[in-house]
Formats: sequence, C-alpha cells, structure tokens
Amino acid sequence: MTDKIRYEQNLLHVEDIPAADLAEKFGTPLYVYSGGQIARNFGLLQKAFSVIPGAKILYALKANSNPEILRHICSLGAGADTVSAGEIFLALRSGFAPGSISLAGVGKTDLDIDFALSRGIGTIIVESNEELKVVSERASALGRTATVSLRINPDVDARTHPHISTGLKENKFGINIDKAGETAARAVKMKNIELVGIHSHIGSQVTEHAPFEEAADSIRKFVLDLKKRGIEIKQIDVGGGIGVRYRNAIKHDLLPVEKKEEPVINLNSLAKVIKDRLSFPGCEIAIEPGRYIVAESGVLLTRVLYRKESAGRRFIVVDAGMNDMMRHALYSAYHQIVPVKLKDSGFSPADVVGPVCETTDAFAVQRELPALNRGDLVAILTVGAYGYSIASNYNSRPKPAEVFVEKDSARVVRDRETLDDLI
Ligand code: LLP
Repeated sequence: MTDKIRYEQNLLHVEDIPAADLAEKFGTPLYVYSGGQIARNFGLLQKAFSVIPGAKILYALKANSNPEILRHICSLGAGADTVSAGEIFLALRSGFAPGSISLAGVGKTDLDIDFALSRGIGTIIVESNEELKVVSERASALGRTATVSLRINPDVDARTHPHISTGLKENKFGINIDKAGETAARAVKMKNIELVGIHSHIGSQVTEHAPFEEAADSIRKFVLDLKKRGIEIKQIDVGGGIGVRYRNAIKHDLLPVEKKEEPVINLNSLAKVIKDRLSFPGCEIAIEPGRYIVAESGVLLTRVLYRKESAGRRFIVVDAGMNDMMRHALYSAYHQIVPVKLKDSGFSPADVVGPVCETTDAFAVQRELPALNRGDLVAILTVGAYGYSIASNYNSRPKPAEVFVEKDSARVVRDRETLDDLI
C-alpha cells in the first residue's frame, strides 16, 4: 500500500510536496522516491520477521542502486545482496559493512570474485561445481578463505512471469537440488573454502504463499540430508521475491477501480512458514527482498506531449519512454497511471505511449484515463524497483533525474543526464 504518495485536495503529493512542484522544479521525466515509504515497507518486513530470532534482511541492490537510497536502507538496518563488483562497490560506499554483504549471480567473473574476496564480503553464493573450483582457486591465489553458500535450485514453480521465474530445474540458476549434496561434500573438503550456508531464490513478484512453502520444504529436506552427511550449516538464505500490488496503488473516488487486483503475501504468515520449517539450532535465517522495500516508494512523473487518434484508439504520447521505465515493454507489467491533478471529468480508454521507435514502447494499453491535454502531468506509480535500475539510453535519450523526498524536503540524488553524457 502506498500511503506516502497520495492526493491532497485532488493534487498528487509525494510525502508533503505537490508532485507538480517537483516536475516544475526538476523537469520531466522524473523519478521521485519517498524515503518514508521505504522506511514503512522495511519496517513491515522487520516486524514480521522479528518472530525469527536474528533474522537478517539483505536488500537486493538490483532493484534500485541509487547511492542515496542505499544509504537510507543501510541506516534502517539492512544488509546487502549484490550480484557484481559494481554492486559491492556501491554497497560499501553507501555504508554497508562488508560482513553484511553477500554476492550472488550465475556468472561471476574473476574480477567479481576477487573484489568480493579482497573486500572481505560476508558470503559468496556459488551456483555450480565449476564456479566452486574457481572461487577456491581465486581464494588460494589471494591467500584468503572464501565463506561460501550453495545456491540450490529447488525445482519450484514460483507462478510468476516466466521471465522472472528462477526456481525451476530448467532455469539456469542454482545447483539442482538432487546434485547439491555432492557439491556440498566436495566443498567441505576444499582448501580455502568454508561452507557456511545454503541459498535459494525461486523468482520475483511472487504473490502466493504456496511456492515459498514448497521451497522451504525442499530446503528443509536438503538441510536434513546434509546433516546425515555430517555437514552442518550456519545460514539459510531464502531469497527475495515478495510481490507488491501494482493495481489500485492509490484509491480515490475520482479514479477508476482497477480490475484483477493482485493478491499480496501476508508477511506474518510467510515469516511463520519459514520459521516453522527452517529453524535449526545455530543457524541464522536471511531473506533478500528488493522490490518489496523500494517499489512502492517510486513514481515516474511524465508530461503529455501529444494526443492523437487512430482507428478509433486514443493515444497519449508522454515524454518518458521505455528507455526510462522498461517494465511494461519487457514483461507487459501493469503500473497504475494517475493524473497529477484530479478532475471530475470521467474516463475513456487510452494507450499511454512513449516517444521511442518501438511499438512496445508503452506504459498502458486501453486503460481508463481522464481527459488529458498537452502539458498535463501524469504519474506512473510503483516504479521504485526495476525502474531506473534497468533504464537505458536507447534512442540516445539521456536518463532522467532522480529526486529523494522526505517530508517537505526534496533533493536531487542523481542529475538528469545531458547530451554530453551520451558521448
Ligand atoms: N535474490 C536474487 C538471487 C534475485 O535474483 C533477485 C531478483 C532478488 C533476490 C530480488 O528479488 P525481488 O525481491 O526484488 O523480487 N526486472 C524484473 C525483476 C528481476 C528480478 C531479478 N532477481 C522486474 O522488473 O520485475
């Protein structure tokens, strides 16, 4: 639920600041984040998982790695889940302690591994036998011991979009759960490797409990198998993936009610599922959500450039494109789109499209929207996760600015790119 992004007297506000003022001052397209919303969502996770003594929340940087957002999330008490030397670099620079950082990823380069080892990163999450060997070699070359977790692939269907489903055995991720026992047995005998844990991540934007339950059951079985082999682990990381509700993020009498609202995970039940199945003496539990922490904090403000009609279809051309926010183009993802100034003018279907030379460059197709004119502002909601972090310069478009809002203060946390930045 987005409660820091809301209407006051029919004007959209991010915390205490009218969105129109932000667009006026900083230009469009503009990413705006609410620090309060991030704190609220992180607090809900912390509260729910407090039933598991010592549970750790590692923020998955890939969702949004703006350094100021990282600093904010670090100050709330999170660790960091990274997938590259670049993310480790940003996490360290933003205040995360090396020991609170893990490095995952199916294709770590030697540079990624060396960077993690030399910076004393908490855990390297290994995804194959060959990688295990390379980590051991790199650790030996650097005179270090690598603390390692094994990512197992539990063969669980996360029932999410196929592009962001990772826990099936035909996916490239992790070590097949039937083979992982042998890998663990090998790891404990290897020089320069300390096997500390196991890891699993079944997918992203998961909205049902059952896949998490199935994964937890598989992990439990695997931990018990390891015990039979005499291998004790100290950490279980159950991954990220907690979905958010994109539809009806803001409810208002003057906005249409969006159909097919997504179910949301009950965090207390999820924590209980994990606690009941995965509590082992001397073993710490971690989760690594990205989207849940940041998605609802972000809006993308964009201005209407043109209106046009073709074959009876209404098109609203805005100044943001798929290069700025790719989720609809990539996954047909749904994001609520609202006018910055609400009017009682009724709705009619429209396609909200960007300027990029691709038919897939759209933010909404046949969506009920109010009358919009050139120059009007609209907000694309719930873009705090996988918005800016997967933006590009396609069509040689400079990337937008990012602004961080807390109460009545707003500051630019990344400048808008200029044409010179394209060179
Ligand atoms: N841990 C691992 C190993 C992951 O691969 C991911 C996401 C996460 C944690 C965080 O998942 P989250 O809690 O944010 O769902 N670009 C896509 C999402 C890709 C997710 C990739 N991995 C999107 O826009 O929906």
